Amino acid sequence: MMTERDKRKAAAIKAMQDVFPDNPGMQKFEILFDLAWDALPGHIVEVGTGDGFGTVSLALGTRASGKGSPVYTVDPHEECRGWANEPYGPADRAVFLGNVLAAGMAETVRIVNLYAQAIVGCWPEVVSLLWWDLGQHYGPHVATVLEWCAKVVPGGTVLLNETFADDLGADAVVNLLTEGDFELLRIEYGIRMLRRLE
Ligand SMILES: C[S@@+](CC[C@H](N)C(=O)[O-])C[C@H]1O[C@@H](n2cnc3c(N)ncnc32)[C@H](O)[C@@H]1O
Repeated sequence: MMTERDKRKAAAIKAMQDVFPDNPGMQKFEILFDLAWDALPGHIVEVGTGDGFGTVSLALGTRASGKGSPVYTVDPHEECRGWANEPYGPADRAVFLGNVLAAGMAETVRIVNLYAQAIVGCWPEVVSLLWWDLGQHYGPHVATVLEWCAKVVPGGTVLLNETFADDLGADAVVNLLTEGDFELLRIEYGIRMLRRLE
């Protein structure tokens, strides 16, 4: 028998397919939806917005759970390249805004159109779930990732995306985190999931 959660997730899958008909990443959607549903009270933060696929997945999850936590997404939407040389830039901002509106998630999603490293030092809120998805090697960003992780509440979750690249350097970040007060829960669909110990 379908649970209420199953029913709400099925409705969210339909919404994702309507808004992102060409995106094959439904496993990623399911991970983000489930973890946003289960997240502790607090702010959900995505670093690296792109066209908003992850943002909308997180927003649908927290809304479907009844908590409706704010989903902040951090990205300057300036010209840059990802690990496979794919281009990102200002045009993504318009696509992102259109996708959030089409999904009906504008009251849950809050865009922070700045570089992650520029704002982490003054981030004012406790983070319950952090989703790191720059599509770039972790090397130049290690200090920023660790600073963001320090904002995560005990019992909260960190998700590091490696998008199946051979070696984007996530191992080094995971080692630093697990030497501290994080434990690695699992790796699924190229996403490392860690929890901050209580
Ligand atoms: C792989 S895309 C994000 C995909 C998105 N999270 C999803 O689930 O579909 C990577 C994004 O990271 C952004 N980005 C790159 N460097 C950044 C930085 N230092 N701070 C914040 N965003 C950054 C790029 O502009 C790009 O839009």
